[in-house]
Amino acid sequence: MWCVAWGLGVVLPFHLGLLSLAAEAPDPCYDAQRQPRYCLPELMDLAAGHPVVASATCGHSPQRLCAAQGPPGPRLCLLCNQASPATAHPAAYLTDPAGEATCWHSGPVPNATLTLALGGRFEVLYVAIRFCTPRPHSMAIYKSMDYGRSWIPFQFFSRRCRSTYGQPPALAVLKGMEHEATCTDGQTSPNPPTRGLVAFMPLAGRPSASAFEYSPVLQDWVMATDLRMTLDRRHRARELGVRGREASYGVSELQVGGRCQCNGHASHCHVPSRDGAPQCQCQHDTTGPECETCRAFYRDRPWQRATPSDAHECVTCQCHQHSHRCRFSMELYELSGRKSGGVCLHCRHHTTGRHCHYCQPGFWRDPRRPLTSHKACKACQCHPIGAVSNFCNQTTGQCQCKVGVAGLTCNRCAQGFQQSRSALMPCVRIQEVLTTTPAYPLEWNPGTECRSHCTPSHGRIRMNLRNYCKKDYVLHAQITAAEESGEWQKFTALVLAVYLQRSVPIRRGEHPLWVPQQDLACDCLRLQVDKAYLVIGNDAESPDPARLVLDRNSLALPWRDAWAHKLRSFQQQNRRGQCRVP
Ligand SMILES: *[C@@H]1O[C@H](CO)[C@@H](O)[C@H](O)[C@H]1NC(C)=O
Ligand SMILES: *[C@@H]1O[C@H](CO)[C@@H](O)[C@H](O)[C@H]1NC(C)=O
Repeated sequence: MWCVAWGLGVVLPFHLGLLSLAAEAPDPCYDAQRQPRYCLPELMDLAAGHPVVASATCGHSPQRLCAAQGPPGPRLCLLCNQASPATAHPAAYLTDPAGEATCWHSGPVPNATLTLALGGRFEVLYVAIRFCTPRPHSMAIYKSMDYGRSWIPFQFFSRRCRSTYGQPPALAVLKGMEHEATCTDGQTSPNPPTRGLVAFMPLAGRPSASAFEYSPVLQDWVMATDLRMTLDRRHRARELGVRGREASYGVSELQVGGRCQCNGHASHCHVPSRDGAPQCQCQHDTTGPECETCRAFYRDRPWQRATPSDAHECVTCQCHQHSHRCRFSMELYELSGRKSGGVCLHCRHHTTGRHCHYCQPGFWRDPRRPLTSHKACKACQCHPIGAVSNFCNQTTGQCQCKVGVAGLTCNRCAQGFQQSRSALMPCVRIQEVLTTTPAYPLEWNPGTECRSHCTPSHGRIRMNLRNYCKKDYVLHAQITAAEESGEWQKFTALVLAVYLQRSVPIRRGEHPLWVPQQDLACDCLRLQVDKAYLVIGNDAESPDPARLVLDRNSLALPWRDAWAHKLRSFQQQNRRGQCRVP
């Protein structure tokens, strides 16, 4: 049993199990172990503060209205006059805090309607109307779910259901018809007619009411944005003991009990005082006015309404702290046996994969760090000459070496192989070596002679179209960083302008630039961080066309602004085809 303790002063027989779960713990949406559980917002008087609009109100011109006071009592008459507010109360007073003290009268009309906008979608659990004249012979309650655009019958009250509303009087609601209005007569047609309360509980007598949380039909049945009462027929004036011109409908109070629709995911709800939609204070990592979706990063399984047996909380995506965004994939969810469907988006820290649990190509998983570490993925350190590419094994970091090359980073010749001059075949079988010229240095050998190492033209070039045309690329670049990487120095070059494009085109912006340590040690090339250079080279100098490699045959000249004009003119002549003229 559950009592309505408001001004109506009546006990409404609520025996719906769901109401007993009302606030008891600090946060009813979680149990003492912080486990999520089904929760409901508090019950409210949904009508309070929302003015009722009536189709008619007495007293445009002074009117005498009378009602019998019950058998065999005297008649009570009043003069309704809108010029004298104490005698004519507008319908807006029906939902004010004054309760029964004020009474709206329709005046002597055959029928009247009262309309109430709730200001948002709510679950309506009861409607109560207190009459200050004898209750009508026939009345109906309608609800709207679309803010008054269309109306659905909620309940009919009449002693003549069939003739007034075309409905048979209901004895019981059948399971298949729980979504339909019924017609009853008990409340409106006492004989003789008396004043009193007409109350309607949308769930009462409906077979699925005890399992309301599992019944989408009833959940929809109680949903409303607006309510309308139509007072369709009075008892005959003779039965009321008055003259026709004196009979009127009179209502003193209208209450609507209900709650915000929060889908079992909130125990509190904010209802703006004026014309704003209610906003549930969502728990269980749900969001939306009615907690009807999952929060952005909690999309590992589909949203569901909570039930007393399962809170159906939203579950966070597992992205190992490398992403803050994810999306839900129904396909993956089904494939996982309906366990997990989250797909991480924009994995950072060089991770990739559905859960940011792999390293990107070019990186490998550092086993000494946890998967959640920002440094869990390390860059592959593949040797630019010894390795086939800069992609390494994700778990071991092993680069893919060319034939005869060995080592984690492919930086040395395998047993039985020795260095050659060829960048394509840096290591050859020992018996195959035919030449005695110095090998292309795979490993830094400090004893190498520098004297004959650099090419003679080193550091000088005549700036003319012929020389320009002979080169494969001409760049203006600034060195922004340098880092030792085995026998190579890895610079970062900010390419500012491209005057002659490489066969593998290079764009403006930052690029790694590799130079053999030996060529630097012998001073064939001088590159300093934060200085700009004119970089001139041939593609043949790079063992891997995708990489920018400078060596003793390339040129890096400290940049002079005066060159820009001349280089642009070479560039234009090249575009006109002049480099191809012999
Ligand atoms: C009164 O009843 C008539 C006939 O059923 C209907 O057309 C009219 O709209 C009703 N008026 C109100 C105010 O409900
Ligand atoms: C990476 O190395 C491991 C261990 O040697 C091996 O089992 C795996 O197949 C390798 N992965 C690839 C893609 O080669």
